[in-house]
Amino acid sequence: MTQGDRNLLILYGTETGTAQDVAERIAREGRRRHFRTRVFAMDEYDKSNLVSESLVVFVCSTTGQGGQPANMTKFWRFLLRKSHSPTVLSHMKFGVFGLGDSSYIKFNFPAKKLHKRLLQLGAQALVPRGDGDDQHYLGVDGALDPWLEDLWKTLMDIYPLPNGMEIVSADVLPEATFAVRFLEDGEQVSALDLADVDDKPAKVIVNRRVTAEDHFQEVRHFEFDIENDATYSAGDVMVIRPRNLPDEIQTVINHFGWQDIADKPFALIPNHADNRVPLHWGKTHTIRHLFEHHLDIFGRPRRYFFELLSFFTTDPLHSEKLREMASPSGQDELYSYAYRPKRTMFEILQDFHSAKIPLRYLLDLIPEMRPRSFSISSSPIACPHKIHLTVAIIQYKTKLKTPRTGVCTKWMRTLQPGDIVPFRIKRGTMKLPPIEAPLLMVGPGTGVAPMRSFLQERIQFNARDNTLFFGCRYREKDYIYQSEFEQYEKDGSLSLVAAFSRDQEDKIYVQHRIKEHSALVYQKVFNQNGYVLLSGNALRMPIDVADALAECLVIEGGMERQQAEKFVKDLEKEGRFQQECWS
Ligand SMILES: Cc1cc2nc3c(=O)[nH]c(=O)nc-3n(C[C@H](O)[C@H](O)[C@H](O)COP(=O)(O)OP(=O)(O)OC[C@H]3O[C@@H](n4cnc5c(N)ncnc54)[C@H](O)[C@@H]3O)c2cc1C
Ligand SMILES: Cc1cc2nc3c(=O)[nH]c(=O)nc-3n(C[C@H](O)[C@H](O)[C@H](O)COP(=O)(O)O)c2cc1C
Repeated sequence: MTQGDRNLLILYGTETGTAQDVAERIAREGRRRHFRTRVFAMDEYDKSNLVSESLVVFVCSTTGQGGQPANMTKFWRFLLRKSHSPTVLSHMKFGVFGLGDSSYIKFNFPAKKLHKRLLQLGAQALVPRGDGDDQHYLGVDGALDPWLEDLWKTLMDIYPLPNGMEIVSADVLPEATFAVRFLEDGEQVSALDLADVDDKPAKVIVNRRVTAEDHFQEVRHFEFDIENDATYSAGDVMVIRPRNLPDEIQTVINHFGWQDIADKPFALIPNHADNRVPLHWGKTHTIRHLFEHHLDIFGRPRRYFFELLSFFTTDPLHSEKLREMASPSGQDELYSYAYRPKRTMFEILQDFHSAKIPLRYLLDLIPEMRPRSFSISSSPIACPHKIHLTVAIIQYKTKLKTPRTGVCTKWMRTLQPGDIVPFRIKRGTMKLPPIEAPLLMVGPGTGVAPMRSFLQERIQFNARDNTLFFGCRYREKDYIYQSEFEQYEKDGSLSLVAAFSRDQEDKIYVQHRIKEHSALVYQKVFNQNGYVLLSGNALRMPIDVADALAECLVIEGGMERQQAEKFVKDLEKEGRFQQECWS
């Protein structure tokens, strides 16, 4: 790259959109430093050009158990080709920033592997790899801020600005990504609700609460009818695009004072060739439709939200406070005002009511709602053309008066029979074990969802060697699918072991039950080469369960602790201990 080129390519791999946000932030900061930036998902980028790229920043997240996101899979396979010479990328300088969560065992694995592979292919690292960590109190920014500082310093040393050129100050309002053109009366409009190319319709048949009314946690059982060509396998995941509730959106429209234009159709015209309106949004829009279907107005803000909002306030105090929270020195304040109490973007807009947002900046300010994943709790063979879900409705308290709610599950709880939900199927990380092998399932809470799917499927094939460790708080309140599982037990298709954590003084969890049943676990998993599937909360539970499995080996097999732990790790490598956990 010559001085004059300043071409910076940013490639991302994302599962739920955070890596894309980071990539877009890097592009914005790059443009302020007069780099010509291009941003692509790795699998959207034309790989044949890679050898001629001289400056590339890679941003990739981690999914499943240390896996790479789906939209970088082809790119990653391409990089792994044995035919590449070890100097094929020798004129490329690169940086890799990973997004992960250190509570997972395989922390930031794809970024680590990508960084290593780029070095093997002769590319030169500009800076050490950055490891974003959800566990940091500032989230991904905790590692991203210092990493970017290092990156820009290195880049500006290598590619200093020509004389007379300055870094564009962060105080200058960037151009909006899109211009808005209201359509003339009678102008042809395309369908508003154009579904994503891959989306299929699911018709709601059942939406019923399955935990006791007086239990703190509302869990609902859903049944959907799906069309013949929408197929899935046991263990797969249903991916749903959330919606916002119409009455809440009316409040948002009133807040902005957009009542008169809320239903007027308009087109979005990209201000740069690189900017694209997402395909599934269709070609024409209304403010109401964008808010109800696409914009994450009730989601949590990114830091950029504060930066951009500060340009639109008319009250100098508001502007100063917003700028402070967007700056590196204001991170503690940002955390205590926004992140810790989990304020939504709409609540912040209400607090900073002097802000008047020009419509063309709406899409820069409010990001798109990300799809949500739910493990399917039915088997396609036992329930043809149906999908069942087992969904915990997210609601919790912070120091704010109004309880916090989950965007998608709040909408899902309102679904009525006959309503249509667009969805996609994603492969789950767990696969149905061989029918002849014993199966040991550990699925506390809604972690039981994929287990119900596997169980239904195995029973269809007359595979009866199934054991389920289920966990919840109280036998009487949140023992979901109790009668169904007890019936399987009576039929001889299931050994059921339940742990009720709050029915007695001492807390009893699934891992305690596993240890209590060490002889059974040892017999099924270690003597009879069975499989262990684990699903549910990602925080402590997977570590505690792995620990309990190792303990069974110590108790029943007389192994040393270290040897037992290695055995459990090997079990995982062989695919005989699989997990699908979420936080
Ligand atoms: C592969 C996969 C399979 C899944 N399967 C299921 C399933 O079968 N059933 C199911 O119910 N869920 C499942 N989930 C989890 C589900 O996708 C999330 O709970 C989802 O975020 C809910 O969407 P929402 O829009 O309602 O919540 P969001 O608006 O996305 O809010 C969720 C966020 O709220 C915060 N939060 C939630 N509870 C608390 C709390 N008590 N204290 C503080 N913060 C909190 C967390 O930051 C959490 O990420 C699965 C997730 C994955 C990745
Ligand atoms: C289902 C799921 C599995 C995850 N698995 C891992 C993992 O194995 N290792 C890790 O470091 N982070 C893991 N994470 C954390 C994500 O990588 C992290 O939240 C990241 O910011 C998500 O970025 P994205 O929105 O771009 O996909 C996981 C997150 C989820 C929701």
